[in-house]
Amino acid sequence: MARTIIQGGMVVTDTDVFPADVLIEDGIVRQVADEIDDVRPDDTLIDAQGKFVLPGAVDVHTHMDLDVGFTRAIDDFYTGTVAAACGGTTTIVDHMAFGPKDCSLWHQVEEYHRLADGRAVIDYGFHGVFQHLHPETLDEMRQIADQEGITSFKVYLTYDYRMNDEDLYQILLAAKDAGIVIAAHCENHGVIQYLRRHYVESGCTEPKYHPLSRPADCEAEAVSRFLRLGHMAGDAPVYVVHLSSAKGLEEVRRVRARHQKGVGIETCTQYLTLTDRLYEDSQEGLKAIMSPPLRKKEDNEALWEGVADGSIDTVATDHCPFHYLAGGAEKQIGKDDFTKCPNGAPGVQERLLMMFTEGVRKGRISLPRLVQLCCSNPARLYGLYPQKGNLMPGADADLVILDPNKSFTFTKDEIRGASDYSLYEGKKMKGDIDLVMQRGNVIVKNHQFLGKKGDGQYLKRRRSDLCF
Ligand code: URP
Ligand code: ZN
Ligand code: ZN
Repeated sequence: MARTIIQGGMVVTDTDVFPADVLIEDGIVRQVADEIDDVRPDDTLIDAQGKFVLPGAVDVHTHMDLDVGFTRAIDDFYTGTVAAACGGTTTIVDHMAFGPKDCSLWHQVEEYHRLADGRAVIDYGFHGVFQHLHPETLDEMRQIADQEGITSFKVYLTYDYRMNDEDLYQILLAAKDAGIVIAAHCENHGVIQYLRRHYVESGCTEPKYHPLSRPADCEAEAVSRFLRLGHMAGDAPVYVVHLSSAKGLEEVRRVRARHQKGVGIETCTQYLTLTDRLYEDSQEGLKAIMSPPLRKKEDNEALWEGVADGSIDTVATDHCPFHYLAGGAEKQIGKDDFTKCPNGAPGVQERLLMMFTEGVRKGRISLPRLVQLCCSNPARLYGLYPQKGNLMPGADADLVILDPNKSFTFTKDEIRGASDYSLYEGKKMKGDIDLVMQRGNVIVKNHQFLGKKGDGQYLKRRRSDLCF
C-alpha cells in the first residue's frame, strides 16, 4: 500500500501539542517526527499547515437502530456512522437494546452483528446489556467477553428491565472477577415512576414536566448507590454513563475522594452545553426529551469543572435520534404526553466541534484534555487503547485534521445522519473538520462522506484500564 504523509500540522496527543509530520503505511501510523524527509514519488502528501492533527474520536455511547419496543431509533449503523465520521468520530461502542423477555445475553450480540456488520462505515464494538439475572447469565457474560471481545455490559437502574441491588451486586462480583466493566444508567426508578404518574394525573403533560419528573437528586442517589455497590464488590470496574447534574457530580467527587479504584465517569455534549430551557416550548421541547433530562446552566458549569479537573473521564453523546416531523415523526408520539415520547436525541456528529468550540475555544479545557475526553480515555476505559484514540506509531491511522481558522454555522444542511433536526442548529462552530481518515483512508473531506458502506470493522475489545 502506498504511503501517506501528513505534513506540517500540529499534532495533538493526550499530553502534548507539537509540530510534526505523520507517516502512515498500511493503515497504521508508522512515524511521528519533526520532519519526514524520505518522501517517495508515490507517497500521498497532505498539507496540514496551520491545522491540528488529532486522533480519530471514539464515542462509547451510541444507540444505532435502537429498538424501543413501539418504535426504533432512526439512524441505523450506516447513516449513524456516516454522521459520526463527518463529525470526526472514527470508532463507536454501541449500547445494545433489550431483547425479547428472558433471552440469552447472546441473543442481542447476534442481533447486533446482523444490524451492524456490512453497514457501519467506521470501526465499531458493542456493550452487552443485562435485562435479568438467570442462573446461566453470568456464564453467558464471561463467554461473550472471551469469544466476542465484549468486555463491558450495561445495567439500567430505571426502565422496565432495571436491575435490583441483589442482582446488580452479583453481577458486579462476577465482573470484578472476570475483568469486565459494568456501565450503568443511574436514576432512581421509584421516585421517577411516582413523579411521572403524578404529573400525568395532574394534567401536566407538556415537555417542561419531563425534567421535573426526573430530578437531579434521582441521578445523585443512583450514582451514589451504584458506585458504593461497586466498592462493596471489591472495587469492581464501574462506569457511570451520561452524568448530567451537579448533584450527580458531587457524589462522584465523594467517591474520588475515598480513592475507590476502577471508577469511570462519562458525561455527554448535551449536558455540558444545553439547558432545560429547551423544554419551555411545548412543541420544540419534544426534540430534547431524553433521559436523564437537560438540566440548568449551573449544572453545565459544574460538569465543565468536572471534565477539566479529572472527576469526569469521558465525553460521549448517547446518540439516539428520532424524527421530529419528517419520516414517522416519532417524537410527536409525545405531543400530548411527554411520558410517551421516545427518549433520545441526535449528537454523534456534533460532539468534537462542540467540545472544541465550547471547551477549548472558551478556555475551559486544553487541546490535550479534549483528546483525553473524546479519544484516549474512552479507548482506554473500553479496551481499545493504544489501537484507537491515539496517534503514536503502531496505532490505527484514524485521525482528524481540524482547521482552527475556519468557522461555520451548524444548520440542518450539515446533518449527515437520518435525523431531521439537530439540538445545535444555528450554533457557530469555531473550527472546522477538513478531513477524517480511518485506517489510512480518507473517509471525509470538506463535510462530504467519501467512505463506503460496510468498511467499518468489528472490534474485539481487550480488558479495560479500569481493571486492576
Ligand atoms: O434518552 C435516552 N438517553 N435514550 C437512550 C437510552 C438511554 O437511556 O441511554
Ligand atoms: Zn441511559
Ligand atoms: Zn444511552
